Amino acid sequence: MTTKTQSGVEERKSLTAEKSGNGTRKNIKSLHSLLETGLKDIYSAEKQLVNALPEIARAVDNEDLEEAVTFHLEQTKKHVARLEKIFDRLHITKTDSEKCPAMEGLIQEGRKTIAEFERGPVRDSALIIGAQKIEHYEIAAYGSLCELADVLGENKIHDILGRTLDEEEDTDADLTEIAKDVNDEAYELTESQH
Ligand SMILES: [Fe+2]
Repeated sequence: MTTKTQSGVEERKSLTAEKSGNGTRKNIKSLHSLLETGLKDIYSAEKQLVNALPEIARAVDNEDLEEAVTFHLEQTKKHVARLEKIFDRLHITKTDSEKCPAMEGLIQEGRKTIAEFERGPVRDSALIIGAQKIEHYEIAAYGSLCELADVLGENKIHDILGRTLDEEEDTDADLTEIAKDVNDEAYELTESQH
């Protein structure tokens, strides 16, 4: 999805003219409403993470990983606050009723990992995989919201979302680094004995 495509006048016209199979007009929403829906979705996702990250921090064994998760918890609280600032700027009423089902599922997978694996490097490896899936979801969400803000000329909102996007990308890179040690440890503990 490129900015060029999203801002293409021709494309927009054809989308607006689109009709459903039986000839009735589809419920076509504006890009503004797409931005609003996306902001509410990631707001729910971030709030669910604020609740879940302490649980994950307690479940990990590796100190660097625990530190990274705790650090990201503090960042996540800032991400929630930034989104609330954006809601104020756009006069969007924030609601707790719309829950992001994707984040709910990803957190559920993390809980399953904690229940199934005993404390140690293999569980840490599994939790890093889960945490990186979460980061990639967030990167995709913030990346596309940045593009929407850009095409709508919402420069300040684009900048705020961009700051969070950078932090999600940094977190993902940190997790990749930590995974190298954790995976080595897990390998030593399990595979090298066979
Ligand atoms: Fe975040």
